Amino acid sequence: SHLLLINGPNLNLLGTREPGIYGSATLADIEKGLAEEAQRLGHRLATFQSNQEGQIVERVQQARAEGVDFILINPAAFTHTSVAIRDALLAVAIPFIEVHLSNVHAREQFRHHSYFSDIAVGQIVGLGPLGYRLALQAAHERLAKR
Ligand code: DQA
Repeated sequence: SHLLLINGPNLNLLGTREPGIYGSATLADIEKGLAEEAQRLGHRLATFQSNQEGQIVERVQQARAEGVDFILINPAAFTHTSVAIRDALLAVAIPFIEVHLSNVHAREQFRHHSYFSDIAVGQIVGLGPLGYRLALQAAHERLAKR
C-alpha cells in the first residue's frame, strides 16, 4: 500500500530541539528507519515535513489524488490550533494515526487538546520515535484486514 508520513512545524529541528523532551534522533533518522520498515512490510512510504499550515493542507489534498491509503501524522503545534488541517483530513477521508513524540498530557494544558484525536484511527503519545514505528505497524495490520 501507499503510506504517507507528515510532520509539522519545528520537527525539522529534531535532534537539537529540546532534546530532553524530544530526544536525540533527527527527523532524517526517523524517516529513514520508517521507510525501511515500510518497505520490509511491503509498502511504499512517502515523507513530508513543513513549517507551514497551508503546505500541509495541500499535501493532504494531494494525497487523495495520489491514492494514498493511510497517513501517519505528527501535526506538532498545529495539533492544538488547526481546523484547516483537520478539515483537509476529513475532506480526503484517508484514515490516519496521530503521533506525538512527547506525552502531551504531561505537559502544558494547551497541549492536552487535539483537533485530530476524535477523527483519527488512533493516537500514540509519549513513546518517542518508537511511536511512529508502532503507528506503522498498526496501519499495516489495518490495511491487511481490508
Ligand atoms: C509534539 C507535541 C506538540 O505539542 C508540540 O507543539 C510539537 C511536538 C510531539 O511530537 O510531542 O511540536 O507534536
